[in-house]
Amino acid sequence: MVLPDAKNPADLGGGCVRPVCYHNQEGPHGQSAPRDTALSTRILGIESSCDETAAAVVSDGSQILSSIVASQVVTHRKYGGVVPELASREHLRQIVPVVRQALAQARLTLREIDAFAATRGPGLVGSLLVGLTYAKTLAFALEKPLIPVNHLEGHVHAVFLEARQKGCEPALPAVCLIVSGGHTVLYWLERPAHAASASACGELSYRCLGQTRDDAAGEAYDKVAKLLALGYPGGPIIDQLAKQAGDGHVLSFGDTKIRGNPFDFSFSGIKTAVLYFVREHAELAPEIRARQEALARGMRQAEQLKPLCSKMTLDLVRAFQDAVVRDLVERTFAAGEETGAASILVSGGVAANSELRRQFEHRARECGLETFFPSRALSTDNAAMIAAAAYPKFLAGIRAGDSLDAEASLPLA
Ligand code: KG4
Ligand code: ZN
Repeated sequence: MVLPDAKNPADLGGGCVRPVCYHNQEGPHGQSAPRDTALSTRILGIESSCDETAAAVVSDGSQILSSIVASQVVTHRKYGGVVPELASREHLRQIVPVVRQALAQARLTLREIDAFAATRGPGLVGSLLVGLTYAKTLAFALEKPLIPVNHLEGHVHAVFLEARQKGCEPALPAVCLIVSGGHTVLYWLERPAHAASASACGELSYRCLGQTRDDAAGEAYDKVAKLLALGYPGGPIIDQLAKQAGDGHVLSFGDTKIRGNPFDFSFSGIKTAVLYFVREHAELAPEIRARQEALARGMRQAEQLKPLCSKMTLDLVRAFQDAVVRDLVERTFAAGEETGAASILVSGGVAANSELRRQFEHRARECGLETFFPSRALSTDNAAMIAAAAYPKFLAGIRAGDSLDAEASLPLA
């Protein structure tokens, strides 16, 4: 096994590794992350469930000492989605430099880490295995605890982590929407009443209120962007182009009707409506071809693609986004009001969307239900959320044995 050596800065490079921006970090490469001198618990978290290899050190579940994310977007973009085999291979390439850089940014050695945490699932099993096996091996070699974390629980804790850094904490019980490329799910969160010790440690209990019956919202963004030749991932570019539609946009899609559980979601209908719209408007074909050629030449920025988008296309992406955001806001607040939640939490990659944030904040003001988001950097996949989620488990004495395995469909409940 290659152990990271944080004392060897010359050996810390590695692909498109990006440090995450967070409170207290000064330099772009974390040269001056703060060190707390008090006796604190430093957990090194590793996240590799999908297409980001990430490592972070978080102190006492609340202070981010480092956070590094190596994105694989360049590898997967030509396929318009994540290719599992390529993802595992990229994680193998990135895991050592990413962990090294997280240690260097935190200015800690491996021996100064108190526990290791890794995402156990849900996710791509080959990807999960890389991070989990690496964390397992570090924990075994250094005789430190290993804490397994559910990826979705990580997204929940990204909200608490960010809120704690700002000196506030979401009131419980809460309704939490996790909305990403792989998931769209509503959870009811509360402190477990039955387990006093777990409650004291800050452990949460989760109940699924509803989830998508087909595509995740982020997946719909990615598929619509592929259909319209807007590049990958689709969320950020659609977010930016939708703002350019102007106020005179004329298109709109109706509400999604769902039988049964009102807190379930469905996004395949809106995706198909966009597909039919494109088929029925043959005049869109030349600009789609032009954008395909632009993407092949590496022109992926909104300002590069916008001149290649007609008003109809800008209206279309705006109408798509409005429909998705409206559905997410309506169902989440309906769940919050029906269950009597004290606050609303929103996390996951799509929580980075500017219109979604605007609409959630607007609705929160209207009904007086406080809404919390992580920063954009902590909304998408990262390892700080994994280390933060591991902290209450560490306090509660939860440890993984040698037989711990990755679980592609690990439930959170
Ligand atoms: O949480 P995440 O990084 O990975 C998963 O666990 O899936 O989410 C990635 C998803 C992608 O589908 C991406 O298109 C979407 O989040 N996304 C956005 C935005 N930024 C990322 N969707 C809408 N608006 C954004 N600004
Ligand atoms: Zn995620």
